[in-house]
Amino acid sequence: MKQIEHTTYITVYEHNNELVPADAELLQRSRSAMRHSHSPYSHYPVGAALLLNDGTIVEGSNQENASFPLGLCAERTALANFAINHHGKTVDAIAVSVGTEAAAPCGMCRQALLEQESRQQNPIRVLLKGGDETVYAIGSIKELLPLPFYSKNLKG
Ligand code: THU
Repeated sequence: MKQIEHTTYITVYEHNNELVPADAELLQRSRSAMRHSHSPYSHYPVGAALLLNDGTIVEGSNQENASFPLGLCAERTALANFAINHHGKTVDAIAVSVGTEAAAPCGMCRQALLEQESRQQNPIRVLLKGGDETVYAIGSIKELLPLPFYSKNLKG
């Protein structure tokens, strides 16, 4: 018998002036992306912004539907935007903003982000911000998803 330990390092920035300008800008873009959220059912707008390896920033926001299960999270609309419009690039970081307490990506979005991280073989940093100044930073999606289901699992 053995135990496997999974460690997630979370850096907590308590004040805006602790952030490097690139992170502050990415967070700002995730906040402005909230404006395009369609969330009349949850009343919970979420904005996401991806920083690409060439410096481009790609936005996404949650898009809900009267048929509730069709709703899409901000992280996955940003990923779809990236996949369709930015072939050949990679994702260095994702920022996610909400209006209340900072929230981490849901399980489905972690899985979707992990697929991108695995494909590009480069970590995607995660920045999370709510309505106050506090920002949580995690170095990779892998850290957010212990014991993941990968493409290699399909190879048997
Ligand atoms: N939501 C996101 O956009 N990202 C997450 O990681 C968690 C939840 C959205 C989905 C839905 O539109 C609303 O937040 C409430 O769950």
